[in-house]
Amino acid sequence: MRTVIVYESMYGNTHQVAYEIGQVAGTRGEVVVVPVSEATLGILEGADLVVVGGPTHAHGLSSTGTRRGAESEADKHEDLELDPDAEGPGLRTWFHQLGPSGSAAAAAFDTRLHGPGVLTGRASKGIDRRLRHHRFRRIIEPESFLVDKENHLMAGEAERARTWASSQFDRLEASG
Ligand SMILES: Cc1cc2nc3c(=O)[nH]c(=O)nc-3n(C[C@H](O)[C@H](O)[C@H](O)COP(=O)(O)O)c2cc1C
Repeated sequence: MRTVIVYESMYGNTHQVAYEIGQVAGTRGEVVVVPVSEATLGILEGADLVVVGGPTHAHGLSSTGTRRGAESEADKHEDLELDPDAEGPGLRTWFHQLGPSGSAAAAAFDTRLHGPGVLTGRASKGIDRRLRHHRFRRIIEPESFLVDKENHLMAGEAERARTWASSQFDRLEASG
């Protein structure tokens, strides 16, 4: 089993969720966890499962403008640190370059503010739509992991990410 986890993250929360999923994936086989800025298209070759996650910005996937906004927020708030891989193109650009997948299994996640998804928006919906457009096979419903108003991952979300990841592998094994 080869799992590739691609994440975009400005403040480190989506990165952390990707790491948690990667820890579970590592117990089931080979795993690569990469920021989108380093996710060359070749990295997906031979993947049995591709997991893609990003932060919710302006109700959906980030854009150049919202990422710039995130950087200015980090300048204003001392407790917000930019992730080492925050700079560079986001998932939108990455998906534009992607070709058809050859039907590998895939799962989408996001991080977003605590609150009803209809109000906050969910980047995972857009990620899931793009994955399916590129012919990936959805193995599980898209999932959101929640941050508080200070942009810190809420208690219990890291564990929930691990549980979500385990369900993916259970489903993959069940589907043969
Ligand atoms: C410019 C900007 C726009 C945002 N818009 C939304 C939004 O529409 N809905 C929401 O739930 N969270 C929104 N957020 C909060 C982000 O979802 C949160 O910062 C992100 O999940 C943190 O993930 P990261 O640490 O991986 O960057 C926004 C954050 C920024 C910086």
